[in-house]
Amino acid sequence: MPTEDVLPATPVPSQRPAPYPLGSADDEVSRLLEQCAYYRPQARSLIDRLGVQPGWRTADVGCGPLGILDLLAARTGPTGQVLGLDAQPRMLETARQLLKDHEHVRLEQADAYSCHDHTGLDFAHSRLLLANLPRPEQIITSMVRMVRPGGYVAFQEIDWQSWSCVPYSAAWEELRGRLAEAWSGDVHIGQRLPRLLGSAGLTDITVDASTRILEPDDAQFGLLLYFAKIQRQRLLDTGLSHAEQDRLVQAIRRHLAQPGCLVVDSLLFQAWGKVPDSPETAAKQHSAPAKRVADRPLSEPDCDPR
Ligand SMILES: C[S@@+](CC[C@H](N)C(=O)[O-])C[C@H]1O[C@@H](n2cnc3c(N)ncnc32)[C@H](O)[C@@H]1O
Repeated sequence: MPTEDVLPATPVPSQRPAPYPLGSADDEVSRLLEQCAYYRPQARSLIDRLGVQPGWRTADVGCGPLGILDLLAARTGPTGQVLGLDAQPRMLETARQLLKDHEHVRLEQADAYSCHDHTGLDFAHSRLLLANLPRPEQIITSMVRMVRPGGYVAFQEIDWQSWSCVPYSAAWEELRGRLAEAWSGDVHIGQRLPRLLGSAGLTDITVDASTRILEPDDAQFGLLLYFAKIQRQRLLDTGLSHAEQDRLVQAIRRHLAQPGCLVVDSLLFQAWGKVPDSPETAAKQHSAPAKRVADRPLSEPDCDPR
């Protein structure tokens, strides 16, 4: 049965891609590649928990310069298919370079709001896309429509709830609050995922979340200051003058330079669900609470192609 027949008939208006607020300059591409390495254990664990198999047809939507494409390529193997979609050509160029030896990886410029031209997949995934964009429910609906009945749709999204300094810093809290206000999407989207997936008609929804403690030599340690640098105009739009921004940035720099200062990272939520075999299944399970993944250590590397 075609996927469209078993999903809620939510119209997905065709839109121009919403501008991605972090851009695609070299700094941003490098940051995303470092971030890929940082989130690699969680990505591997997700692929394991979902049981992605050789031969599966998969997609990573908003894949950036790598996303989880390499992990999917290694797991699905040459009989499988990995589709990487991104709105920005610069991101796709880097991904093309990095994955040139994987013939079953295809990269395409596409808008996540209307990516359902691709259908019949076994698995569609997106990481750190929804938090940056308005109307995340439309992206989820479009991704659900990519997947065959019985296949899976998964998201990995941050939630800034835990993102803080130890010891406490009032300047950090203020800048983080202002950035959250200035952000183009929802920096607490992680905790909304189970509901959003339920509303999109997915069943068997599972959710997990984790964070890490960052030390000064971790790449993510100074991320708040990086965001403040590239979101300067948006911060100004929230009423935070250049002078106030500079004061906060300097206060945070001094604070982070103190010996023993740590950063508690954002939560990374992972949530996934199954595309129902029939509308009845979807309706029956719509109100079922999401399952929590039982605590267990993240799996050891098993598919690292590098
Ligand atoms: C924060 S990056 C995450 C990249 C990758 N998923 C990862 O985890 O490394 C967000 C990516 O989404 C892409 N993007 C933004 N808006 C998009 C849209 N409307 N459709 C498709 N991709 C989009 C950006 O170009 C960027 O590569």
